[in-house]
This record gives sequence, structure tokens and C-alpha cells, in this order.
Amino acid sequence: MEKFVIRGGKPLMGEVTISGAKNAAVALLPATILAADKCVLENVPDIHDVAVSLQTLAALGAQVRLLDKHTYEIDTTCLTSTQVPDDLSRQMRASYYFLGALLGRFGSAQVAMPGGCNLGPRPIDQHLKAFSALGAADSVEYGMIKVEGKQLKGAHVFFDTVSVGATMNAMLAAVLADGLTVLENVAKEPHVVDLANFLNMMGADVRGAGTDVIKIRGVEKMHGCCYSVIPDQIEAGSFMVAAAMTAGNVLIKNVTPKHLEPITAKLELAGATVEEFDDAVRVYRTGDLMPLKIKTMPHPGFPTDMQPLMGVLLSVAHGTSIITEGIWENRFRYVDELTRMGANIQVDGQVAVIEGVPELLPAPLRASDLRAGAALVVAALAAQGTSEITGIGYIERGYENLVEKLQGLGADIHREETAAPAAEQAM
Ligand code: EPU
Repeated sequence: MEKFVIRGGKPLMGEVTISGAKNAAVALLPATILAADKCVLENVPDIHDVAVSLQTLAALGAQVRLLDKHTYEIDTTCLTSTQVPDDLSRQMRASYYFLGALLGRFGSAQVAMPGGCNLGPRPIDQHLKAFSALGAADSVEYGMIKVEGKQLKGAHVFFDTVSVGATMNAMLAAVLADGLTVLENVAKEPHVVDLANFLNMMGADVRGAGTDVIKIRGVEKMHGCCYSVIPDQIEAGSFMVAAAMTAGNVLIKNVTPKHLEPITAKLELAGATVEEFDDAVRVYRTGDLMPLKIKTMPHPGFPTDMQPLMGVLLSVAHGTSIITEGIWENRFRYVDELTRMGANIQVDGQVAVIEGVPELLPAPLRASDLRAGAALVVAALAAQGTSEITGIGYIERGYENLVEKLQGLGADIHREETAAPAAEQAM
């Protein structure tokens, strides 16, 4: 069993460089299938979910070559399978992007049926609605979801709910379909725009990404290209909150400040200062933290993935904050852990009422998912004394070199391997 050991209470100071965006990379990697050619992807984060995507590409027959730590050449000219191996698709929900990409190129795809997860139920009905509008049939066989449609035709899809995954999967399936596809009520996240830019560089004709309507004119063939993944908005936001929480002063480099605006706006209201540069932001705080009202919403609203981190920050603000979670059913699981650190938070359904306390106390903590885990790291960095965090596998799925990056900012944090308790070893 691995854990982070953190001796908190020191302001974070210095500079940190943000990695490529996880939620863009896990869609761009499957998208290389549509090129049927060689693509070079740069600024790919070195994280677990990317490793799973690369292993999946290799298992499907792609030639994957590491050019440097963050650059891959992926040749999808000759794929040998349209079925994602069960053990790989089960490791990562974003495996569903292989459905859209394989369907788009080969008219057929099979991926393990994604179940619920720590955030609550995660249906894919809107993904399937888009595939079906394009002319594909879906079925479930022995735990695998299969989509099939040999002659996909452009269609009009109005999504019932704004979904990042369904928007991007529909784009993947539609770029090689015959004729015009119009997607309405789509997600507008920076990674949706990144995928559109990448597809267009490979020869697709995708317009309107970043607005409510995306229009895709199907092309006959796509080709390889060289493309750089956008910076990770949530990793950047996590360091912004860590700087504000510890009353530090951190220059956060390799970011797109525009993508950070929903986070910047709330941090400034909470009492931090955010200075914007071309591709960096500096965050510092000298005064007290102020309470806030936050509701998570699809982009450009406040991102759900930042909600646990803001919950930690507001737990030590002067007054009462209210957070309403608008996307996931089960995103307040970090609150129990924070309560162990002395936080005063009442959760009722999708609403958390946070009465700020003067300080958080160190405690043994357990991460329940990726962002909850990151939030607990930030809480422990601020608490005077030593906290230990287990369940760090979740954190390492999405944050590259978190320990090293925090150490570079002066944090007292290290990773330790310990013998797992007998019950956990047996699982
Ligand atoms: N939804 C449906 N039907 C669908 C798809 C989604 O009802 O077919 C619902 C979901 O249940 C949820 C809402 O729509 O209530 C939004 O879900 P969305 O599809 O946008 O989420 P996702 O694509 O599965 C991505 C990120 C999540 C992030 C959400 C929201 C990836 C790999 N994951 O998930 O990231 O929280 O968008 O922004 O891109 C994380 O990085 O920690 C993370 C969980």
C-alpha cells in the first residue's frame, strides 16, 4: 500500500509547470485511430489513464513509439482489432472514446460496458443516442457494449443533457460519416475545442466547438499530423487553490489563463490575488479567506472537478459558504475526511454548507477519487503537523509527478510504500 506523508503548515512558494490535460489526452489518443496514419502527440501527461489509453492502442494493433517523456508517435495505419480488451477498458471510464473512434473508422466497436463509479451513476445513453442517430445499432453482449453501423450518415442530434463524453464521442463517430452532422446542446469545455482542433488538423471539418452547436461535415479520409495537447485546467486550478490555501505565492506556468477564468473569478472573490500572463498565472494570498457561494455547472460555469478543492479552501474561510454540486451525485465524499481534520460541513443531498473554522488539524486520510484525493493533499499541506493519505492510486491517475511538483514549491511531502493490511492484500 502506498501513501503520501505530508507535514503541513508551510506556504507554497516558487514556480510549477502544468502538464498536458488528462481529459483532452484520453480523447485525443483514441482519435488518432481516425487518421489511419502516423500522428505525433506532444505535451501528453505522464499519468496512469494515458498509459491505459496507449496500451489500448497497442492492443488494437497501433504502433506506439515514445519520442520523449511527453511525446508519442502513434501509427494507426494497420489496426488488427476493433475490440478493446476487457481488462484495459475496465481500468478507465474514458475507454468509451474508443467506441466513437473505432465506430467512425471501421463501423464497429466493442468496449466493456462502463458501470457506475465513485462519483455516482455514469450513464452513456447520450453517447448511444448520437451513435444511433448516425445509423449505428448498439447491443450489450457478455458485459461488452457493441456498436455497429457500416455506413454512418450525418444526422441532427439534440443532447438531452450537456455531456462532455457524449459530445466528444459523437464528434469522433461523425467526422468520417457521410454528410452533415449537427450536434446541439453540446459541452463547451476546453478539451472539446482541443479535440475539434486535433480532428481538423487530421483533415476533418468540425466547426463551432466551444459554442452550443457543433457542425461536422463528413470527409472521406483523414491523415496524420503533429499536435500538442492543451494544458490541464484542473491541475492548474489545483495548484492555484493550494497556493491560496497555504497563503503562498506560486507562478503556475504552461497554462491557458482564459481556460482558468471560472476558477480565477472565485479565487479572487475568496481573497486570493491572481495575476495573468500570456501562458502563466501567479496566485498569492496575504489577507483572510472569505466565504463563497458556488454551484458547479458545465463550462464556462464553475467546474465540478474543482469542487472538492474549493470545499477545502472554504473550510477555513471567515464565514458560511454554500456549495451546490450540479453535475455528479456523489462528489462530497471528501467531506467526511475533512471533518476528521476539524472542518464544520453539513451535506444535504447536493448542497454543502461550510462553516469556516480557524484551521484544519492533521489526520490520517483516505482518498475516495481523483479530485477528492487532490483536495485532501491541499488540506494536509495547510494543516500544522503530519497527515498521511492513503488511496493515492486515484490521485496518480490524473496528476503527473504531484509529489515532485509540490516538493519544488517547498512542501514537505513524500510517498511511502507500506505493507498493506491483510484484508486489503487479499482483495
Ligand atoms: N450523463 C448522462 N448521460 C450520458 C452522459 C452523461 O446522463 O450519456 C450525465 C452524467 O451522469 C453527469 C452529466 O451528464 O451527470 C455530465 O457528465 P459528462 O458526460 O459531461 O461527464 P464525463 O464525460 O463522463 C468528464 C470528465 C470528468 C468531469 C466531467 C464533467 C473525462 C474523462 N472525464 O466526464 O472528469 O467531471 O466530464 O466535467 O473527461 C475528473 O477528471 O476527475 C473527472 C471526473
